[in-house]
Amino acid sequence: MDKRFPGPFQPQRPHRRVLPVVLVALIVVGSFVRLFGTGRWLVPQRTQSIPHRAAALLAKCRHLNTTPGPPPDFYTRNISDRFQPGTKSVLITNATIWTGNDRGNEVVTGDVLLDGGIIRGVGTVDVSGYEDGQLVIYDAHGAWVSPGIVDMHSHIGVGSAPRLVGSSDTNSHAASIQPWLRSIDGLNTHDLAYELVVAGGVTTSLVLPGSAGGIGGQAFTIKLRPTTENTPTSMLLEPPHDLNGSTTMHMKIPPRWRQMKHACGENPSIIYHGTRMDTMWSFRQAYEKARLIKQNQDDYCEAALAGKWEGLGAFPEELQWEALVDVLRGRVKVHNHCYEAVDLDNMIRLTHEFKFPIAAFHHAHETYLVPDLLKKAYGHPPAVAMFASLNRYKREAYRGSEFAPAILASHGIDVVMKSDHAVLNSQYLLHEAQQAHHYGLPDNLALASVTSTPARITGMDHRIGYVKTGFDADIVVWDSHPLALGASPKQVWIDGIAQLENPHAAPKPKSQSAPQTPDYTKEAALAVMYRGEPPLEPLVSTKETVVFANVSEVYLRSRGSVKQAMSVKANGAVVVRGGEIVCIGTATACRTRELLSSGDVRVQDLGGGALVPGLTHFGTIMGLGHIQSEETTMDGAVPDVMPSIAGGAGGIVHAKDGLLFGSRHALVSYHYGVTSAIASPQTDGGLVSGLTVAFSTGASHKLERGAVIADATALHVVVSMGSTQMSVSTQLAALRNLLLGGGEGELGRQFRRVAQGELVLVVDVHNADAMASLIELKTEIVGATSAAIRMTFSGGTEAHLLAKEIAASGVGVIVHPVRPYPSVWEMKRMRVVLPGPPLSADTNIGVLLAHNVTVGVGNGALWSVRNTRWDVAWAALEVQDMSKTDALALGSVNVEQLLGVEEEMGDLVATQGGTLLDFEAKVVGIVSARRGVVDLL
Ligand SMILES: *[C@@H]1O[C@H](CO)[C@@H](O)[C@H](O)[C@H]1NC(C)=O
Ligand SMILES: *[C@@H]1O[C@H](CO)[C@@H](O)[C@H](O)[C@H]1NC(C)=O
Ligand SMILES: *[C@@H]1O[C@H](CO)[C@@H](O)[C@H](O)[C@H]1NC(C)=O
Ligand SMILES: *[C@@H]1O[C@H](CO)[C@@H](O)[C@H](O)[C@H]1NC(C)=O
Ligand SMILES: *[C@@H]1O[C@H](CO)[C@@H](O)[C@H](O)[C@H]1NC(C)=O
Repeated sequence: MDKRFPGPFQPQRPHRRVLPVVLVALIVVGSFVRLFGTGRWLVPQRTQSIPHRAAALLAKCRHLNTTPGPPPDFYTRNISDRFQPGTKSVLITNATIWTGNDRGNEVVTGDVLLDGGIIRGVGTVDVSGYEDGQLVIYDAHGAWVSPGIVDMHSHIGVGSAPRLVGSSDTNSHAASIQPWLRSIDGLNTHDLAYELVVAGGVTTSLVLPGSAGGIGGQAFTIKLRPTTENTPTSMLLEPPHDLNGSTTMHMKIPPRWRQMKHACGENPSIIYHGTRMDTMWSFRQAYEKARLIKQNQDDYCEAALAGKWEGLGAFPEELQWEALVDVLRGRVKVHNHCYEAVDLDNMIRLTHEFKFPIAAFHHAHETYLVPDLLKKAYGHPPAVAMFASLNRYKREAYRGSEFAPAILASHGIDVVMKSDHAVLNSQYLLHEAQQAHHYGLPDNLALASVTSTPARITGMDHRIGYVKTGFDADIVVWDSHPLALGASPKQVWIDGIAQLENPHAAPKPKSQSAPQTPDYTKEAALAVMYRGEPPLEPLVSTKETVVFANVSEVYLRSRGSVKQAMSVKANGAVVVRGGEIVCIGTATACRTRELLSSGDVRVQDLGGGALVPGLTHFGTIMGLGHIQSEETTMDGAVPDVMPSIAGGAGGIVHAKDGLLFGSRHALVSYHYGVTSAIASPQTDGGLVSGLTVAFSTGASHKLERGAVIADATALHVVVSMGSTQMSVSTQLAALRNLLLGGGEGELGRQFRRVAQGELVLVVDVHNADAMASLIELKTEIVGATSAAIRMTFSGGTEAHLLAKEIAASGVGVIVHPVRPYPSVWEMKRMRVVLPGPPLSADTNIGVLLAHNVTVGVGNGALWSVRNTRWDVAWAALEVQDMSKTDALALGSVNVEQLLGVEEEMGDLVATQGGTLLDFEAKVVGIVSARRGVVDLL
């Protein structure tokens, strides 16, 4: 030991009282050395090279490996660092509180006290210290209360709504490895999404850079409420102490957790024209660079702490690499966009080579196929942050499974549900947890997956993710059990501040208990056994007699509407032969006992379930492709200009010619009750899409009986401000010309059929002004030619603004997305006027229906067609007085009618445990008169 530097300079035994004296001495020596050049002649050799900032350097050295976390006095705080002065204390009374404690199993009834921006009491709360009027009382009337939702994967603020050239700050394309970039530097405070997302109960989001690079940069956690300062910085939750270059804090208290984005697989490879091999090498190169810097720092500090300053020079660090060095010091939560087994394996090898843990794999579609690999990761198994059902959009996601959350949880892996906002609107992140719950994730873990688990994985579980004394006052009061379909906040507090100024309740009471979800054990096992490609063909497809027993409700199509055909308390039966219903009634009336004893009859017990019309999808290229981002799996896009060989300017495309059967999208949709779809050709920014075709999602090829339901019943065009080819006014001019007979060849002929009312003109349109122009155009053409144009709007996000006019002109609307989001400017007015509960009482669909407009529910995203059952049920919950028959019609007959499909033979869907619209129900059979079979799934 060097005797001249006792005590304080030893790494193990800091000596507080001696330190200041020695530091002053060192600084003086340092200045002296500086003043007199090298000073070799002035002071002894050893002392002369002591840097004048030695004290700071030594402090830095001692802190190099400190584990991040809250300061020691954090747990006794009485006021939050985010407290907004003037905020009144709140007492939420009579609440049913899901606290997050006991792995999400604890439920406490009582009160919650919010004061100073933190939770001051939960359950039985002492408010004797408060005077009358000091507390705002919020009577929850027994409602469910949860911690604010935490979205661990969001691009809110960096990929802002509406999407504009000027608001795309998610990805840098400058290089692949850029640990020095920071999402905070792009955070737009004017994103229209903040208000919507908060209205969904989300209080905190981790804003990640995108996945265009291997290392996209550092991520930042924000609280979503508006701040008085109105800046990105004021939204941050626990930013690193030295974010602004301030170095004073980080010498005294533990550092704060940092977060960083990594990405492997397709995205970084494709964008940099490389391969997986290139991406992995770029990771190893970067980590080797960081490792060398870290090694130099450690060597430096070892010498400095031992007092061996000679020749040490400056502390080895590089601003560009400091964050990656911090990863190696275990002080950064690494969030790794990574899907496939090959990529997961690569990354886990990397964690061992360079010795750093990964906090979570995100997307992670194949993690459920390699749980043992996850357990082998360096440090600890990463959590898995997933979507519930967003699968198959690219190869990496192709083997994704709705059962993955349940499977991973069964292996003890932490499961987080995330939005990847705006990939999914974070407002409905809870719906991801609800779906995961439906497919087998236990209710405690489902709720934790959007609250306590992400709080823990991001290193913030000392203050968010729980309803616990001392935690941030981020609280949601729900109108139902949070896992019930359509659960909507009645109030949301962030830092103790109520966020909903004038909350609107949804019109209908919802379930106050968690749904009893179906058993999918077998399906989950098959997903694993077949590595994500379980067979989707029915177990049995029979023309013989099938008895559905214990049926409690039956709904049937009837001349363009849906009618209830049976409702019984017990022992209802439906008998089907050759796919046709031969009896609906009680078991006795249908003589089921005799049928059963005669043999050769299959029985399917519905356990109180139902038969309802199969749903019909419109709005995507369903039936025209397998993997959307893989051209070779798709029918492809209609060319900008039809080639002369296809008729040139007079050419038009028939969707029927491109139909592809047996896609997993179609079969999965079939399995979940969407038994038919109406496809139209894909345009790439052009006006005319082509002629639609209605087909069975369960058929195996076009020539099979009943595979094609109706051909060319509608002509589909797209009117959009986003067209790459022509202005909206040019699009209208083209339609006018075509409808007045100006078109050539087959195109001209089909438009003449439209003008004569033989074909429906279905127009993709979201913008109210464009809809108004289309209504005018319709009137104009009808006036000029006494034509009988049938027009349907598809999309219709702003349709409620013109509900009266739309009704008057006899136009119908297929609404999608069913829960609107202002992703582009032409949908923006949905937010100002009508986002739905709790921001508005009305919804787009509700207003249109109130004006007697025929409304269907469509869907613009291929992967989510399977979720039509929830979309319809949820939409119906938000419309006053909507019956189950009307709800079913929204997703079936109305869609068909609006696209000119007359479908009396439509399929029926048999469900166990409830109707198709219930979270409790499981689809077990499809009855298809058109195809002459019953499929048992
Ligand atoms: C918070 O209040 C309690 C009780 O009044 C007190 O003991 C504690 O020291 C306070 N904490 C802080 C950080 O001031
Ligand atoms: C809590 O609210 C429920 C539902 O409104 C009510 O029945 C019950 O009496 C309330 N309990 C208390 C203690 O106020
Ligand atoms: C810089 O950050 C520190 C730590 O967050 C904070 O205390 C300080 O006020 C900030 N300084 C400025 C100038 O913003
Ligand atoms: C109807 O349900 C009851 C109770 O679940 C069950 O015991 C009975 O076997 C079922 N009937 C048939 C025909 O499956
Ligand atoms: C819608 O139709 C109903 C029943 O036909 C009628 O009573 C009501 O006035 C209509 N509403 C509007 C806004 O036209």
